[in-house]
Amino acid sequence: MIWRKNKNWMLPLGILSLLFLYGMMGETARGDNSKCLSCHGNENLTKKDARGNKISLFVSEEGLKKSIHGENACTDCHTRIPDESHAKTGIKDADRKVDCGACHEESEKLFKTSVHSLKAEIACKECHGTHSIKPLSDPKSATFQTNLLQTCGECHSEESKQFAESVHGVGLTRGRPNHPTCTTCHGTHGIRPRSDPESAVHERKIAITTCPQCHAAERITREYRFTTKPVKSYYDSFHGLSYRGGDTFSANCASCHGVHDIRSSSDPKSMIHKDRLQKTCGVCHPKASVNFSKGKIHTLADIRGVDFGEKAVGWVRIVYIILIVAVIGGLSFFNFTDWLRKTIERRPKD
Ligand code: HEC
Ligand code: HEC
Ligand code: HEC
Ligand code: HEC
Ligand code: HEC
Ligand code: HEC
Ligand code: HEC
Ligand code: HEC
Ligand code: HEC
Repeated sequence: MIWRKNKNWMLPLGILSLLFLYGMMGETARGDNSKCLSCHGNENLTKKDARGNKISLFVSEEGLKKSIHGENACTDCHTRIPDESHAKTGIKDADRKVDCGACHEESEKLFKTSVHSLKAEIACKECHGTHSIKPLSDPKSATFQTNLLQTCGECHSEESKQFAESVHGVGLTRGRPNHPTCTTCHGTHGIRPRSDPESAVHERKIAITTCPQCHAAERITREYRFTTKPVKSYYDSFHGLSYRGGDTFSANCASCHGVHDIRSSSDPKSMIHKDRLQKTCGVCHPKASVNFSKGKIHTLADIRGVDFGEKAVGWVRIVYIILIVAVIGGLSFFNFTDWLRKTIERRPKD
């Protein structure tokens, strides 16, 4: 028989029995929950908090089972609550605390460096919830990309409201791919204040990574039939050159487009709508006339450009380059022949 000749069947059998044992352990763990649920499974179980408000102590067994932690025992998270003794004596603040980091070390380590941990002192549950945490890929998860408008908006309602109406927010909620959500620009567990040079939205990064991560990515721009031109032309502009040179007063993408309320130039509410440009530029160019802000901003010097202006500047640039090459080339050629002549003249004659 084949299995007699080939001893490799031992390995799968070993794994199977281990899995079986593990499953049994899971069973006992879940069995343990019944003790806690004998009280907390009761929908009417409540207590009064410090301010005298009634709070529910009900935990849905069904809900927890359907969550990503469905295999966990109550006491895996509530490590300081071994039994029902708290039912009579009340529960201490420290005992209520759940240490998610015991199992999610990486997330916690990063989170400890964030403004949310250091300044706001919020806990994991503020974004993730408690007993109904879903896998990341589940559209019902509190941290699913479209749900972040509510989850983060709970505390940042102004930013969230503006963003929902922006060209990015509208695309995102319509389920179109490659539109940013809060965490695309800000990161997740390591969010820092915008004044921190390490912040993903620090002003020195906005025109280098925050916006160009998409607007300079050929793959994304091709899909939405816009171009990488805004980024390339920005780098060639007065603003881009001085920004990259370290001038903190220069304009970056957000100075002209806004941040959470970015709209297309055809939208009258857009900061770059022709009727609002004078105001937008006027923040830094107080004497800006209507004409000052009329010129196209994102133009490249390109002979294949979209209009006469771009083509003309493109040709001027080419002629300029030819002239430079001709002059420098001519000069070098002259110097070389001069040197050659002198070397030959200096050679001792027999
Ligand atoms: C005999 C009923 C009973 C059992 C069994 C029981 N609890 Fe409780 N639990 C209560 C009551 C009553 C309170 C409110 C205590 C108070 O007034 O602070 C409470 C409070 C809590 C709280 C704090 C709620 C809050 O935010 O103040 C947690 C967490 C908790 N229980 C978890 C558990 C876990 C885990 C188990 C199983 C190991 C368990 N309980 C078993 C009755 C019970
Ligand atoms: C994935 C971890 C996790 C598991 C598993 C878990 N809990 Fe909780 N539970 C939490 C967190 C986090 C809180 C909020 C604690 C706080 O106030 O900071 C909480 C709060 C509670 C509260 C207070 C009321 C509320 O809903 O906020 C009760 C009661 C409770 N848990 C009971 C249970 C019982 C009973 C089980 C098992 C059937 C269980 N928990 C399983 C994480 C968990
Ligand atoms: C400010 C909101 C916020 C807080 C607070 C927060 N998270 Fe998250 N967390 C998220 C978001 C958003 C995602 C989804 C990331 C994604 O989809 O790529 C996430 C993903 C996760 C994941 C999946 C793996 C990963 O890192 O991508 C784990 C595990 C996790 N968080 C645990 C924690 C723990 C533990 C804490 C507390 C120490 C915590 N989170 C605090 C927002 C938060
Ligand atoms: C006893 C260990 C344990 C504790 C405590 C625990 N978790 Fe988990 N958590 C897990 C395991 C195991 C998974 C499943 C990992 C997987 O399937 O990739 C998970 C999955 C997750 C996920 C989904 C990750 C994904 O990739 O979809 C999030 C989010 C999460 N946990 C957040 C939390 C938060 C927030 C807390 C505290 C309230 C917490 N966890 C407490 C063990 C734990
Ligand atoms: C396209 C990138 C992008 C997206 C998407 C985005 N932000 Fe921002 N956010 C920024 C930038 C850039 C800044 C810094 C603005 C500045 O320096 O003036 C910022 C600043 C902030 C601030 C600090 C505001 C202040 O004035 O203190 C908060 C809070 C914030 N964002 C929350 C959110 C939330 C919540 C979402 C999702 C609803 C979100 N952001 C989506 C880029 C983004
Ligand atoms: C429970 C409330 C709460 C939730 C939920 C929350 N935040 Fe915050 N967030 C705060 C508080 C409070 C601060 C700190 C404000 C301060 O003191 O500077 C803060 C700070 C920030 C900052 C830094 C602002 C600055 O000064 O530049 C950003 C960015 C931010 N949050 C984004 C987010 C995003 C994105 C999410 C969702 C993934 C989120 N927050 C979820 C409460 C929250
Ligand atoms: C995750 C990728 C991503 C990031 C990051 C991003 N964008 Fe966009 N942006 C898009 C997509 C996709 C569209 C197309 C929107 C649509 O048509 O639905 C768009 C549209 C726009 C538009 C309108 C274009 C038009 O033709 O109407 C402007 C302006 C814009 N973005 C500016 C910015 C600025 C400024 C930033 C940085 C603060 C930024 N974007 C960050 C993906 C991104
Ligand atoms: C000095 C102001 C200014 C700066 C800085 C700037 N833009 Fe623009 N942007 C404009 C104006 C005005 C338009 C309208 C069309 C034009 O003039 O080319 C525009 C158009 C756009 C468009 C096409 C949207 C539309 O509706 O036509 C995108 C996308 C864009 N900019 C992205 C960016 C990105 C990304 C950056 C940073 C790398 C940036 N812009 C920097 C002012 C600016
Ligand atoms: C955040 C501030 C800021 C905004 C907003 C801004 N600029 Fe500027 N701009 C500057 C600075 C600083 C310089 C000087 C850069 C250098 O040459 O070193 C400059 C230089 C210029 C120059 C070349 C020098 C000059 O003064 O003639 C032009 C043209 C210009 N900006 C046009 C605009 C237009 C048009 C807008 C609006 C669409 C605009 N700027 C918005 C800060 C800004």
